Amino acid sequence: MKRMLFFILPILVIISVAFTIFGIIHVRVEEEKQMDEIRRKAIAVNESLGLSARHILLNNDLKSARALTESFQRRERLQGCVIYDTSGKVVAVTERIADWGNTRKPYIETILEEKSPRGALEKFGNYSAYSYVRPIFDDDGHILGLVEVVYDTSYVLTTLASIWKRLSITLISLLVVIVLIMLLIQRQIFILPIIHLTEWFQHFQRGETNSPHSIKQVDELGKLASEVEQVALSLRIARKVVSEKASERLDKEELWTVSKLRDTIQARMGENALYMVSNREPYMHTINEVTGKAECIQPAGGVVTAIDPIMRACGGMWIAHGSGNADRQFVNSKDKLGVPPEDDRYILKRVWLSKEEEEGYYYGFSNEGLWPLCHITHTRPIFRESDWQEYIKVNRKFADSVLEELPANPPFIFIQDYHFTLIAKMIKEKRPDATIALFWHIPWPNPEVFSTCPYQEQILEGMLACDLIGFHVQMHCNNFLDTANRLLESRVDTETSKVIRFGKETSIKSFPISVDDNSCHDISPEDSGRLEVIRKEFDLENTIVAIGVDRIDYTKGLTERILAIDRFLEKYPEHKKKFVFIQIAAPSRTHIKRYHDFAGEVDELVEKTNWKHSDGNWKPIIYLKRHFSQEEIRPYYMIADICIVSSLHDGMNLVAKEYVATKKDLDGTLILSRFTGASKELTQAILINPYSIEEFADSIRLAVEMPAEEKSSRMTQMRNTIRTNNVYKWAGNIITELASLRKC
Ligand code: G6P
Repeated sequence: MKRMLFFILPILVIISVAFTIFGIIHVRVEEEKQMDEIRRKAIAVNESLGLSARHILLNNDLKSARALTESFQRRERLQGCVIYDTSGKVVAVTERIADWGNTRKPYIETILEEKSPRGALEKFGNYSAYSYVRPIFDDDGHILGLVEVVYDTSYVLTTLASIWKRLSITLISLLVVIVLIMLLIQRQIFILPIIHLTEWFQHFQRGETNSPHSIKQVDELGKLASEVEQVALSLRIARKVVSEKASERLDKEELWTVSKLRDTIQARMGENALYMVSNREPYMHTINEVTGKAECIQPAGGVVTAIDPIMRACGGMWIAHGSGNADRQFVNSKDKLGVPPEDDRYILKRVWLSKEEEEGYYYGFSNEGLWPLCHITHTRPIFRESDWQEYIKVNRKFADSVLEELPANPPFIFIQDYHFTLIAKMIKEKRPDATIALFWHIPWPNPEVFSTCPYQEQILEGMLACDLIGFHVQMHCNNFLDTANRLLESRVDTETSKVIRFGKETSIKSFPISVDDNSCHDISPEDSGRLEVIRKEFDLENTIVAIGVDRIDYTKGLTERILAIDRFLEKYPEHKKKFVFIQIAAPSRTHIKRYHDFAGEVDELVEKTNWKHSDGNWKPIIYLKRHFSQEEIRPYYMIADICIVSSLHDGMNLVAKEYVATKKDLDGTLILSRFTGASKELTQAILINPYSIEEFADSIRLAVEMPAEEKSSRMTQMRNTIRTNNVYKWAGNIITELASLRKC
């Protein structure tokens, strides 16, 4: 619109100026014409009046003088006339302009002196009048008096005003017509072709690289369209070649790597794009409270840890909630940005939520309802109808945001976690050709527990719109199959591990998630620097270091862990001053009362335990309560002789796997809760029941005193497990499965 104004405005200004100049000239000419006519009439009337006035003045006939002045008032636009004597005194004046006659006028004396006529515009009351005065002479040339006629000129102004009015209306109509014509021309010549090109670009963006563009012009725009068409053609061919080569390479590679996953995606999905959806975004922009500047952090949690390396490797789009307080500053007009920042490996599309939506959907239904429902930790789930309504609303918002992006080719959509149980159904209603997987990152409870959820049917129905539902371990798959069987009208095929409802099949499979085992290279100079700083800061020389890395969540067994350390030091005091436990604790969901209270409980317990066992400068627990980046955590894993994972219930727990992946020197022991998914794979860890504080304390002792060979043998086996079952295998298996389920 602005650009159009630039184009039209100068033309309008030129036309207006030209029209105004024409108007001024026209009005001037008209004014002259009218005044000339008045002048001529005034002279003629004055002359005819003069003849009679001469006779009257010669005879000093006052009565006739009055009759004469009165008889002249009947003429058109003539206001009246005045007869003066030789001294300039009024002899007779028309009644209507009696005021005029009685006013003393300086020009009368001048005319008497100069004896020559005078015509001029004079002010008369509120209007202007034309006065023509002529001296009257006797036969000897002596002056007898003056005769003045007064004409009304106000009608000239009225005539001129109506001319201006007509001209203005004509000018405005002309301008409107010109603007309309120009808009029409502009639309035909510029806007329509640009609209067509934009539409074509949108199709191209959505993957329809073979639809021809509709711009037929041979001008610059047409040339641009043809160039883009060529790029599309090259891209289509390149994709095909890449996909074929990827299939060839796939058969050769054994271990899962970044490139094998990339090949899998290209071979299995070809031109069909992959869309990732999760609540938590992989990169969050927040304002640093100390510096006041915006910074980018990677939030803590399994989903981000696992999916980011996959997206980095394969590109694509990740749609997530923009929850950082500076997030809006970093997106483009479509709410997208390239991530990781400065590296741009894939697109992050941020979805904005209002406070009410976040409160009801995220804090309420997801984390006070579904989270405790799925974790056996004896925290009562809370189901509020208002939270459920927000949950539906936000699921719809995300579904719409995904639908907006989907290409014409059948797409693949990969949804993460319990925040989005309804999305698949919402998407399928509009795009039945989409192939959708949902991965459930937390445990799935047994049917008795799940049946306490008032919205069980809608949730199961929403989930079963997926083609594939993944869990970490077989037990959670079994729980889900049982739940579907018992709570919903459906058929469960245990042979093929499928739920069939109204003819729609959903595969239920386990895919144990893992970490990027290749991300841990040999110790870099930066790592060594950080290690030294940490050692010095916490005085860790000649000390056995145990570590815990968790979000502050009641499912993580943090209090049990501290109680076990307390018991360990009580039972085995010889380890005092030789053992330190560092807990890295990321504040999480603090807005929820249960989390807020829990954080307070942990603070108190740490304080109490440290007070109880501290000796001089030594205290058993170093509690680091803040967000740590992956790079910051790595040196702690390296320093740690023991890693403690004591979740009361956990889908997988990636901290256990990250620790093992980092321990290249094999010098480390993992203490792992039996209630984590990871314990099913990392069987060489020291497995514990975190509820049994006695057993837990003894396990710490076992880890502290474990001989080097045993540590190294256990660690070697666990590292082999992670090497063969890394995150690329996890993603590769899901994508292969998903691609095999594609209907069209
Ligand atoms: C668990 C969930 C994830 C979640 C993470 C962190 O791992 O499975 O979906 O992202 O916790 O929790 P938050 O609520 O901070 O996203």
